[in-house]
Order: sequence, then structure tokens, then C-alpha cells
Amino acid sequence: MDKIVIEGGYPLSGKVSVSGAKNAALPILAACLLSRGKSIIHNVPALRDIDTMKRIMGLLGADFIEEQGALVVDTQQARHHVAPYELVKTMRASILLLGPLVARLGRAKISLPGGCAIGARPINLHLKGLASMGADMYLDRGYINAKARRLKGTEIFLDIPTVTGTENLMMAAVLADGTTTIRNAAKEPEVQDLADFLRSMGAMITGDGTDTITIEGVQELQPAEHAVIPDRIEAGTFLIAAAMCAGDVEIQDCMPEHLTAVIEKVETAGARIVPGDRSISVQGPDRIESVDIKTLPYPGFPTDLQAQFMAFMSIADGWSMIRETIFENRFIHVSELRRLGAEIEINGAQALVKGRKQLLAAPVMATDLRASACLILAGLVARGGHTEVHRIYHLDRGYEDLEKKFQGLGARIWRERA
Ligand code: EPU
Repeated sequence: MDKIVIEGGYPLSGKVSVSGAKNAALPILAACLLSRGKSIIHNVPALRDIDTMKRIMGLLGADFIEEQGALVVDTQQARHHVAPYELVKTMRASILLLGPLVARLGRAKISLPGGCAIGARPINLHLKGLASMGADMYLDRGYINAKARRLKGTEIFLDIPTVTGTENLMMAAVLADGTTTIRNAAKEPEVQDLADFLRSMGAMITGDGTDTITIEGVQELQPAEHAVIPDRIEAGTFLIAAAMCAGDVEIQDCMPEHLTAVIEKVETAGARIVPGDRSISVQGPDRIESVDIKTLPYPGFPTDLQAQFMAFMSIADGWSMIRETIFENRFIHVSELRRLGAEIEINGAQALVKGRKQLLAAPVMATDLRASACLILAGLVARGGHTEVHRIYHLDRGYEDLEKKFQGLGARIWRERA
């Protein structure tokens, strides 16, 4: 298994470009199934999760061609409706195929995603929403089976503003008969990007980006062309890294307006940040102030940057309180950070971090995608040898060329193949 090796302690400087957003590209690829023909998607990141989505959609009959840097998704022959366990178990986001398949083919059979390292992650709200639109559903041998002649528009209230749940129901509703209103909908930029793509296919959607989304069903959709938004979590990872490593970095091809909560916290920690139109300049402070954070749905501080921010706070001057409110088990990186010398106490959903002057290099193990990024950030500041981050396949699910991008900023980081 590959590992990443880091010799920490060098400042970061220069420019780095952000890739397309994984969590926008995944639902957009799934949405291509809602029409028949060739959609052209730009800015799709080269990631393992994207490959998994392409493999499952390939089994459904879709075809993919790379053309001048864009991904052409041909759904002309996409007539199958089964997403098998072997692939779904490697990526929970496969559940995003449920809405499009039921809407387009009238049936879907998708392996029920299991729990995952960061929490139980049920999909009850996806299923309840689809059932209220008239889908007939049952669980058989670990597969969700859903059927509907034509879904019917309805009022849906989400108990929790689930991101993929909102996306699934929005995709189901675009071809439904009548109007669907999703209340307490997720407001994440990825939901808005999906809505933009669906509108370019001919869907009638309003209110995305607010907590009430209204969808007027149409008879059919056409293939369309779309550029995926930049990955705000990747941009936020560089933002925090630059602030940690006394950096002077320009993060390019990003949307600062998607990172308001993060910019505010990193600034409070002492960094100098200048947002541009599609870029952010960051200068790290000499002394990092401790700052408290609480993860929240968008536009609050994203749970997908909580682990990276904890690495940051582990070298701050003072104590900081980190509260995780989205997932019940998203502190698994803590025991690995402790191996690097971080002082962190966990009490339920709160972590109390006592900043230290230095972290010390050690071998560590990644446990999920964002935990991998957190350990790399910690490795970039850890002294006294090499930090080795093992089980790096988690990182490859969601960061494109992360170590190469850090190399471009002057970090001493490389991948070793086993
Ligand atoms: N929830 C339920 N029932 C449901 C759906 C969600 O109880 O039917 C709960 C979850 O257990 C969780 C909370 O609601 O406690 C929020 O989960 P949400 O459904 O919003 O998460 P998700 O859609 O499964 C997406 C991202 C995650 C990101 C979260 C939160 C994708 C493909 N995944 O997951 O990204 O952490 O939203 O912002 O969009 C990552 O990229 O590393 C990642 C985990």
C-alpha cells in the first residue's frame, strides 16, 4: 500500500490551483442518467470516487469518453437499474443513483450503503422522501428496491438538511408529475451546482441555496454541458496549511464566497487573508492564536475541514474547543494526531485542544478521507524526522495530486509505493 512521507518544518510559498469539487461532480454525473444522450462535464477531478461512480454507471449502460479535458457522459444505452454491493460498499455516494434511476427508468436496485468510519450515516430521509413521492420500496438481501411508474410531486420536510438526500430528491423530482417542495433543504454550494446543471438540462428548479427548494416536474430532460465548481474543501485545506506553515500562498481557481466561515476562523487565528475574484492569498502568522470552531451545515464551518483545523489548532498558542455537530464519530484522527505529540482531550462531541510549540514526526495511519488531509497538514509542521502517513488510499478518494500540489509550494513531501 502507498504511503506519503513528509519532512516537516518548511514554509509554503507560491501558487496552487484547486481541482473540481468531488461532492459536486458525483451528483452531476449521476444526474446525466436523467436524459438520454451525451452530456459534457468540465472540471471533473481525477479521483478514485469519480472512477467508482463511472464504473457503476458503466454497469448501468453509460459510456465515458475524455475529450479535450472534458468528460463526455453518454447515457444513450443506460437502461440497467442495478448498482451492486461490490462497488457501492466502496463509496456511499453511490446512493445518489437512486433518485435518477427511479425518475428515469421507473425502478432502481441499489445496495444499501453500510455504516462508515465517521458515523452510522443512515439514508432514511432519502427513502422517506422518495416514498412520499409515490415510490414503492422494499429492502431485500441488502438491496433497496424502488419502483414507480411516474413519481408524484409533493411536500417534503427533511428532519436534517441532508446534502445527498436533498440532491437525490431534487433529481427524483425533476421528472415527477407536478410540484415538489423540499423544506429544510441543504444549502451547500454542491446542491446549487447540481441545480444549475439540472436547469441547463431543462429542469425547473427555484430556491436552491435557500432552505426551500421548489421543483416543477417536466416530461423530459436533454443532455447538457456544465463546468463543476471548484472544490471548497480542497481550497480550505490549502488555506489552513498555508496558515499553519507560515506560508505565503495564492490559492487559485477557487470561490472565496464558499469559504466565508473558514476564512473568518483562519483570520482570527492570525493569518492575513486577501480574497480575490477566483483566488485567495494567505500569509501565515508567526504566532497562531487559538480559535474555537463548531461544525454546522453550510454556510457554517464544514465538517469536512474539522480534522484539518484540529491539526492547525494543535500548534496554536492556547486552548481551543472543537465541536462536531454533523457526524457522531468524526474524531478518529485524534489518536493519530496524539502520536505526533498533539494534546487533545475528547468529551463526547467536543475536543479540547491544547496547542503545543511543536509536533514531532512519527508514522501514522489515515482512517478516512479528511483525516488523511489532517495528518498530512500535521506532518508538514512536525519536526525531528519523517512523518509517514499510511493507508493513503483514503486520500486518493477525494484529493487530486495533493502531494504534488504541496511539492509545488515547496513542501518536502513524496509518495512511496509499496
Ligand atoms: N442523516 C440522517 N438520515 C439521512 C441522511 C443523513 O440521519 O437520511 C444524517 C447523517 O447521519 C449525518 C447528517 O444527517 O449525521 C448529515 O449528513 P448528510 O446526509 O448531509 O451527509 P452526506 O450527504 O452523506 C455529504 C458529503 C460528505 C459531507 C456531508 C456533510 C457527498 C458525497 N458527501 O455527505 O462529504 O461530510 O455531506 O457536509 O456529498 C467527504 O467528502 O469527505 C464527505 C464525507
